[in-house]
Amino acid sequence: MNEIRRGTLQEQTFYEQVGGEETFRRLVHRFYEGVAGDPFLRAMYPEEDLGPAEERLTLFLMQYWGGPTTYSDNRGHPRLRMRHAPFAVDRAAHDAWLRHMRVAVEDLGLSEEHETTLWNYLTYAAASMINTPD
Ligand code: HEM
Repeated sequence: MNEIRRGTLQEQTFYEQVGGEETFRRLVHRFYEGVAGDPFLRAMYPEEDLGPAEERLTLFLMQYWGGPTTYSDNRGHPRLRMRHAPFAVDRAAHDAWLRHMRVAVEDLGLSEEHETTLWNYLTYAAASMINTPD
């Protein structure tokens, strides 16, 4: 046992366990490739360049899973439901969002346990973002 560096015995965050920033960048990059090729979902994104949106979602997910807090340093409290209020997130948008996210998650090739943890969160979060009834 190392008496000097207690930190070495601490558990890693989920962020670290799955590979840190590189993993979240790959995830969200793949997701936005799907968005870019989906006319229905693409039409919801106001900016012509999806790059800034990709950066925001990447930084948010990194922060959520225990990585650096750059998202909130730049954007403040996430308040994600409020930030989605300008967009009509209905069941169809929810399904399309999750469909592209599923492809992106599977591409990461995580362990089954990590993949399940990530996927459960994303499906829960997506359901909570619906703000427009059918
Ligand atoms: C359910 C379907 C969803 C749809 C259709 C949707 C759509 C959008 C759109 C159109 C934007 C604006 C793009 C931008 O300028 O950043 C946005 C932003 C964002 N979304 Fe979603 N979203 C969904 C779910 C989610 C979920 C589940 C999360 C988190 C796990 C999330 C996290 C974010 C973040 C962090 C931003 C940027 C917020 C900011 O700082 O301005 N979204 N979303």
